[in-house]
Formats: sequence, C-alpha cells, structure tokens
Amino acid sequence: MRAIRLSRTGGPEVLELAEVDVPTPGPGQILVRHTAIGVNFIDTYHRSGLYPIKLPSGLGMEAAGVVEAVGPDVGRFSKGDVVAYASGPIGAYAEFNAVAADRAVRLPQDVTPEVAAAALLKGMTAEFLLRRCHAVQPGETILVHAAAGGVGSILVQWAKALGATVIATAGGAEKLERAKALGADHVIDYREADVAAEVRRITGGKGVPVAYDSVGASTFEGTLASLARRGLFVSFGNASGPAPPVEPGRLSRMGSLYFTRPTLFDYVATTEELDASAAALFDVIGSGKVRVDIGQTFPLSEARAAHEALEARATVGASLLIP
Ligand SMILES: NC(=O)c1ccc[n+]([C@@H]2O[C@H](COP(=O)([O-])OP(=O)(O)OC[C@H]3O[C@@H](n4cnc5c(N)ncnc54)[C@H](OP(=O)(O)O)[C@@H]3O)[C@@H](O)[C@H]2O)c1
Repeated sequence: MRAIRLSRTGGPEVLELAEVDVPTPGPGQILVRHTAIGVNFIDTYHRSGLYPIKLPSGLGMEAAGVVEAVGPDVGRFSKGDVVAYASGPIGAYAEFNAVAADRAVRLPQDVTPEVAAAALLKGMTAEFLLRRCHAVQPGETILVHAAAGGVGSILVQWAKALGATVIATAGGAEKLERAKALGADHVIDYREADVAAEVRRITGGKGVPVAYDSVGASTFEGTLASLARRGLFVSFGNASGPAPPVEPGRLSRMGSLYFTRPTLFDYVATTEELDASAAALFDVIGSGKVRVDIGQTFPLSEARAAHEALEARATVGASLLIP
C-alpha cells in the first residue's frame, strides 16, 4: 500500500510517499481501508518533533473507511462496516491502518466517511471542550480563537447551538467573514486588534467566563487578560508555539483564574466515553446544528502540501487527504 513515512523530524519536506506492506490486524484490531484521512495540527507537532514519536514512523491519527478484515477477539465490528477513528495509532496517512476495534466508532447512515474524517477528531474535541471541560451555559459569552479553522469552526457552531454568545478571533478579513457566517456574534482580527481590550468592551468590562485558546504562544497574554473573575483559561493547542509557563500567583492576582491544558485523549479514554462523544457529535451533525466545513482536499501523495498550507495559515475548516 502507499503510505506517508518519515525517518527524521523537520519541516513538511521530511514527509515521503512510500510503498509498504498492508498491516495484519492483531488481537482486538481491525484493518480499515481508508476512504478519507483527516489532517490535524497535531500531525505537524509529530512531524516537527514538538510531540516526540518513535522514528521511522507513519503519520496521522484520524481516518474513516471500511473494515477490510478483523483480527482475533473482535466483537465490535465485522468486515464491511463503515467506521472512523481519531486516536491513532499513528499511521493514518496511508491506504490502510490496523487500529484497536475499541478505539473506532461506527458511522451512522447520514455521516459519510469524508465528513467523519474531517470531523471526528476536531468535533469530539469541540464536544469535550464545550460540554465537559467547561459546560457552556445558555447566555454565557465565550471567547474562541482561530475560529475559522478545523476545530474552531465546529466550536463556534456548537457553542451557538448551546445558546452562548461567541466572540471569535481569526486572522484576516476573509476568515472573520467565515466566522460570522458560522454564527459568531462578535469577531476580532487578532493579528490587528488588542483582543483583551475588545473583549472587555464587548462584555461591558466583565471579561469572559471561559476562553478556548488553541493558538498558544501568540495569544496567551490576550487570553489571560480577557477572563472574567474566576474565569477558565482552556489552553488546548500550540499553533503559534507552546504557551509559556503559568505562575500560580498571576492567576490569583488576575481574579482567581483557573487554567487547564486538556487533551482529547483523556476525555475519550474509555470506549464508553469515545462512543458518547462521537454520538453527541453525530447528533449535532445530523440535526444540522453543526455543518462540517471541508475547506480543502489533497491526494495522499500531497501530504507535504497539506502541511505547508496548514502551517502557513492558508487553510479554512478541515483538510482531508484522499488515498
Ligand atoms: N488538546 C486537544 O485535545 C486538541 C485536539 C484537537 C486540536 N487541538 C488543537 O487545536 C488547534 C486547531 O487544530 P486544527 O487541526 O483544527 O487546525 P486549524 O485551526 O485548522 O489551523 C490552525 C489555525 O491556527 C491559527 N494560527 C494562529 N497562529 C498560527 C501560527 N503561527 N501558525 C499556524 N497557524 C496559526 C490559524 O488561523 P488564523 O489564520 O485565523 O490565525 C490556523 O489556520 C491546534 O492548535 C491543535 O493542536 C487540540
């Protein structure tokens, strides 16, 4: 089969298209023939070495397709089932991957493999952020950064469905327009404006009870200064580089703030949590509350171009690789 491999960390140029053996599913595993592969920012962290992986390696955490074979001791799926997975094992940038059956979910009839590959990782992230990390309440005003991106575009729509007022940030006029079209009530170009000052203005000086920040280094200070008394800083990504260390005394001085650095994998740690998170996502997709925006599609062989676009802030919504 064709697969993207890397033998060293670095820029997109370390990604190589290779011919490798189709894996054999071991005990508890299914072999998935991929229809569509999700591109996620975490893939760039694995590639660059920000999140260390064992090399040589494949890349990619998320894909959807058809169960081609089942290994021993698999009761959850049969050959021919249409499934998706979003927690690895690393190696989704390939025609096939062998994954643990209890880390995959069955797709409902109305969710295509393309939509699932674009939405499972990003959408379950939105699910845990909005419903469990902090349970967004109707009438709350929340701050969402990178709102025109993959996770951001789902966050905005889902938060609106929960009854929140959404202050969305993005870079550039076109992305701000997209955020508005997704339902954002207020938009801020964080490349130009003082985010905290704008948030204070919009909230009548109060600040927001929760801020979702996946941008990291460049937005950190503005996010911190945007929080209301006892507000929660949810730092969940590093698109501009990792957020700096947080000194506990600053949280105290800035209004008894809370700070968390969550990861999806701790919120879908059990199969029950995984199934519940995916079901909630498929529900908001099925009801039309969340429209999955596939902004760009690349052939598997052009994974490099997909990474270049994502890191150059040249993408909107989700990106797919098609094998
Ligand atoms: N903790 C978790 O469990 C979890 C799970 C999923 C995703 N994430 C995180 O969520 C974030 C979004 O992931 P995604 O896959 O949906 O990506 P994405 O949001 O589609 O792409 C990242 C966006 O971040 C913005 N950005 C700001 N500064 C940037 C910079 N210096 N370089 C590149 N981009 C920059 C860009 O939007 P503008 O052009 O509008 O600035 C860019 O489009 C990532 O940080 C990812 O690591 C975390």
